[in-house]
Amino acid sequence: MLDQINNLIKEIMSFSASSVADIEEFRIKYLSKRGKISNLFDDFRSVSPEQKKIIGEKLNEVKKLAQAKLVEINRLFEPKSYKTLEIDYTLPGDPMPVGSRHPVSIVRNEIIDIFSRLGFTVSEGPEIEDDWHNFSALNFPEAHPARDMQDTFFIRKDPDILLRTHTSSVQVRVMERQKPPIRTLSPGRVFRNEAISARHHCIFHQVEGLYIDENVSFADMKQALFYFSVEMFGSDTKIRLRPSFFPFTEPSGEMDISCSLCSGRGCNVCKNTGWLEIMGCGMVDPNVLEFCGIDTVKYTGYAFGMGIERVCMLKYRVNDLRLYFENDKRFLDQFITSVI
Ligand code: DAH
Repeated sequence: MLDQINNLIKEIMSFSASSVADIEEFRIKYLSKRGKISNLFDDFRSVSPEQKKIIGEKLNEVKKLAQAKLVEINRLFEPKSYKTLEIDYTLPGDPMPVGSRHPVSIVRNEIIDIFSRLGFTVSEGPEIEDDWHNFSALNFPEAHPARDMQDTFFIRKDPDILLRTHTSSVQVRVMERQKPPIRTLSPGRVFRNEAISARHHCIFHQVEGLYIDENVSFADMKQALFYFSVEMFGSDTKIRLRPSFFPFTEPSGEMDISCSLCSGRGCNVCKNTGWLEIMGCGMVDPNVLEFCGIDTVKYTGYAFGMGIERVCMLKYRVNDLRLYFENDKRFLDQFITSVI
């Protein structure tokens, strides 16, 4: 019987399966109830007691071998799953390109965020405007030379339709439809008929601010703009106001911030003055309030306007305006880590 078992071991070891059908054939031939191993176990009953131990061990060995072989040939015909494919899961994946906000959007959102802490809302107006909202209601008399301050793209004459030259036009729209108190910001795109260069562009962005209420003073404006400057440019920032002229504000001012690059000592960015011009501002001219139907006895207000690209230039030290409009990926990718 020992020889029989040894032959069976050899037979099983040399079995090779060439198709799925061979697997079943193997199972029936060796491991089924009527299979060769089962038959040997039947014969085992008549083995003499002295031989039981050695033959019993051998029988168990052949059974285990057959079972292991069955697993092995089964595996040969298993469909290849991801577990058996040779993939190194620790390899780094293909990078997925992540978009970024445009620097103009980042700075616009930051400006809105700062002023919203002072209670300012956001208002929008059309980019294609009429003469009334862009000029006349803002106290630019017809044919007045102040209109030359802003070279305008006219779309149609009589009545004049144009691309807004500033976001101050939104002031007028807000005052026409809303009663004071008004505290709002108007961010948006503006257009001027300029030859494109590093310092000038025919499209840029502004944020306009407007605050109308009872007893609003120049000091209120100064404090709000100081708060903005410190939040935007850092706690060491100083401000200064210089007298200026805008038709829609009286008195009008131009606000400078201390140059953060040289801390006011003087460098080529601030042209050795220690100061950087940042925005126009002033008390809303009573004529403007009246044009918009606001009671000038009861209400006063302040307004300000700044260029978003100007703030970007100071924040990111990118001094060529054209870069903000070319959408060069190498430029935009530099803002990927910025807060979105
Ligand atoms: N609209 C002005 C411009 O485009 C900027 C400005 C200056 C807006 C003074 C204001 C202001 O509201 O008070 O140059």
